Amino acid sequence: MIRVGEALARWTTLGVGGPAERLILAETERDVIDAVRDADDHGRALTVLGGGSNVLVGDDGIRGDVVRVGHRGVELTHDGSVVRLTAAAGEPWDAVVQRAVDDGLAGIECLSGIPGLVGATPVQNVGAYGQEVADTVVTVRVWDRVDRTVRALSPAECAFAYRDSAFKRDPTGRCVVLAVTFALTPGGAPAVRYGELSRAMASQPATLRATRDTVLTLRRAKGMVLDPADPDTRSAGSFFTNPVVSKELADAVEALVRQGDGSATMPRWEAPEGRVKLAAGWLIERAGVRRGMRLGRAAVSSKHALALTNPGGDCRAEEVVALAREVAARVFARFGVTLRPEVVALGVSDPLWG
Ligand code: EPU
Repeated sequence: MIRVGEALARWTTLGVGGPAERLILAETERDVIDAVRDADDHGRALTVLGGGSNVLVGDDGIRGDVVRVGHRGVELTHDGSVVRLTAAAGEPWDAVVQRAVDDGLAGIECLSGIPGLVGATPVQNVGAYGQEVADTVVTVRVWDRVDRTVRALSPAECAFAYRDSAFKRDPTGRCVVLAVTFALTPGGAPAVRYGELSRAMASQPATLRATRDTVLTLRRAKGMVLDPADPDTRSAGSFFTNPVVSKELADAVEALVRQGDGSATMPRWEAPEGRVKLAAGWLIERAGVRRGMRLGRAAVSSKHALALTNPGGDCRAEEVVALAREVAARVFARFGVTLRPEVVALGVSDPLWG
């Protein structure tokens, strides 16, 4: 089905964004491939949209064709000690997690309550509470727009990193995700590694179901589970990635914070190559940005400083960009740390994404 000039605001969780020149609602894998081929054959710009939960669409909308991936389906195959779960790109992610937990399959339970569709999960290597899809992805089935064929990519070809992958790094969007296969462990123990999750689970047996329920409770408290009744959830999740900095900079930031507030313990995690990952939400608050702060009609979530929201539902993308710039500028002025957006900009050109 093709809709001309449809506003994309209703196709994104943030609820902002102008029209798509043409919005193609693909219901089958064939529809997706045909729509992509058609755009490529006619030299029209192509944007692939999943659940719209990690994007900021500009007020002028998107030129060319926007293909909204909507094909469904989940298949399980037993393979020795693992179960391979293959989900179509248009399958809602959380339904897949729920299915895995219901079937006693370990590997993605900490990724409960994350909005969006399966096809986006390898693109930004979705992660939470110490787990990420890179831990379990075994194959990503894609349409290759250059070779014009369907290919099965290995995890090495996906080159996963923190909230990043070869798909996200490729400015040409060569590969369109059609389906993802995860290797899950029947009867496996849940991954309870993240401090906040371990503490919340301490009083109960660590089952897959208890882990899922606890993650959902934690995420709800941060406004990170979609709920039409909660304006704090009208967001695109974490707006920025957690900055990964040199040890020297991390130590300098920690010293700065101690000077201002002797009692503060700065959250920090070891990252590859001796670097240190800092908590963007924590830095944002210490840079003087209050939860709930507004600039125009855009707001910092009242539950988590890392999420920017559209509380009234009438915000423009340019207001979200202005707020994001203000937040990043304050963090840079206070700590010398550069925040980079996690949210993908579509039809927005701003140095923040430079
Ligand atoms: N914190 C604050 N103030 C805030 C928010 C957080 O001081 O407003 C502190 C917390 O107390 C904690 C630290 O910052 O000490 C980290 O916060 P949190 O555990 O909430 O996690 P996060 O680093 O802000 C990341 C992911 C989330 C994921 C959670 C849980 C990124 C960019 N974000 O958030 O993912 O759900 O961990 O694992 O990596 C997303 O990617 O959209 C997302 C929501």
